[in-house]
Amino acid sequence: MSSSDAPPPTKPKQINLLRGWPSPHLLPADLLSAACQRVLADPVESVPILQYAPDPGYQPLRERLAQWLGQHYGVEPDANRICITGGASQNLACILQSFTDPHYTRAVWMVAPCYHLSFGMFEDAGFAGRLRAAPEDDEGLDVEELERRLAAWESAEKLGSHQEPKPFKNPGPYRKLYRHIIYVVPTCSNPSGKTLSVQRRESLVKLARKYDALVVCDDVYEFLQWPLEGPTTAQRPPEMRLPRLCDIDMSLGRAEIDPQGFGHTVSNGSFSKIAGPGVRTGWAEGTPAFALGLSKTASSMSGGAPSQLCAAMLADLLRTGELANFIDTKTRPALQRRHRIMMNAVKQYLAPLGVVSQESSIQGQSIYGGYFVWLTLTQGPSGLLVSDAALREENIVLGRGNMFAVRGDEEGAKFDNAIRLCFSWEPEEALIDGVRRLGLLLQRMQANVGYYEKLVAGVTDSDRPVSSWV
Ligand SMILES: Cc1ncc(COP(=O)(O)O)c(C=O)c1O
Repeated sequence: MSSSDAPPPTKPKQINLLRGWPSPHLLPADLLSAACQRVLADPVESVPILQYAPDPGYQPLRERLAQWLGQHYGVEPDANRICITGGASQNLACILQSFTDPHYTRAVWMVAPCYHLSFGMFEDAGFAGRLRAAPEDDEGLDVEELERRLAAWESAEKLGSHQEPKPFKNPGPYRKLYRHIIYVVPTCSNPSGKTLSVQRRESLVKLARKYDALVVCDDVYEFLQWPLEGPTTAQRPPEMRLPRLCDIDMSLGRAEIDPQGFGHTVSNGSFSKIAGPGVRTGWAEGTPAFALGLSKTASSMSGGAPSQLCAAMLADLLRTGELANFIDTKTRPALQRRHRIMMNAVKQYLAPLGVVSQESSIQGQSIYGGYFVWLTLTQGPSGLLVSDAALREENIVLGRGNMFAVRGDEEGAKFDNAIRLCFSWEPEEALIDGVRRLGLLLQRMQANVGYYEKLVAGVTDSDRPVSSWV
């Protein structure tokens, strides 16, 4: 290796392109602080806010969310469809507690590549070994392929002539147990950045109604979208506003197999990416029967819905319009700019080395969103080798494609030649420097693959970035 291609002599400053957190500049501390003071100022309001919450959550937030979301998606506002939650992760656990049974529910079908921290939640609910990959194609989740795999599973079960498994749980009158779970991030997916078209959304809802599946949609990036073209300084960049699966499901009326009207989709919304992960507040929206059933999750009935104080602050910020304004004028333009900066760096430093990026172009509009770019290394080396070497030589942390393969069904969709980079967390200069350093590393690696294979030969999973780094 000549000195010009040599790695940096001293360990450079760490750049974390794995961590999917909002930039510290995009946390509305002043708005939250003012809202907190307002809601606690008057005992008529502060007393119920500081008590246990009603099971479905703080009523003013349910109502304001119904108005805000109704206006955003062009649907009739209905607070009875909404439950307040402790964020998408906490609520996924509640959904699984209330609507699945590890004996009765057959499998969990997960979009692949998949948000990796969700695997543990399904495993905690008793589904270890029954997570199945549902691959994406250029347009996101491949619904036809999912149906092929689901139908094959069902036929194999019939052939095995099992008796209908007896559930461990008794769902009672307010809840039901679904036969399958389908997990997706329909808009600006983490990690692939893809957004499902309207046709795919409709097909997915129909498939869920046919197989008695519940589609859990992590809709956490819905409000974070921007046009790929045009000025990045634009205030209020336009969004796609595609219908959510829960609205498509509602518009179809009750399915024949669902006389109680629980529906087959739930939107798992969150304030984490639009107000701050620390507020630990979100919402679930489904049919009124589903929302009622979710509110009957025993931990909500004992402690009340989570995040009551934060729910009151967020209801206040929705009332004043300040949160919507913050998202439109600060968060989305900043993410648009950061994404553009990262993609320009990718084009300059990585594309010449055979690195290909994918950005969705839906219905003639070029819109992107979320926090991540998904890159394919068409000329090698593998994503794993690159991420190990990046940490070792360049002190860069990044997402290796394999992290996002569905746990236990890694062969169902493989991502050996992919990496994920996050553009929301590090300062803008670090996004450019990180990609530049990655380009230099990749150049060295492509010229000396054998050397790098040896260099990282001893690295094991326990040396690699884990969830606490993310
Ligand atoms: C797809 C997806 N779901 C859920 C979460 C976590 O959401 P919350 O903070 O509301 O628990 C994230 C955060 O990165 C995510 O990307």
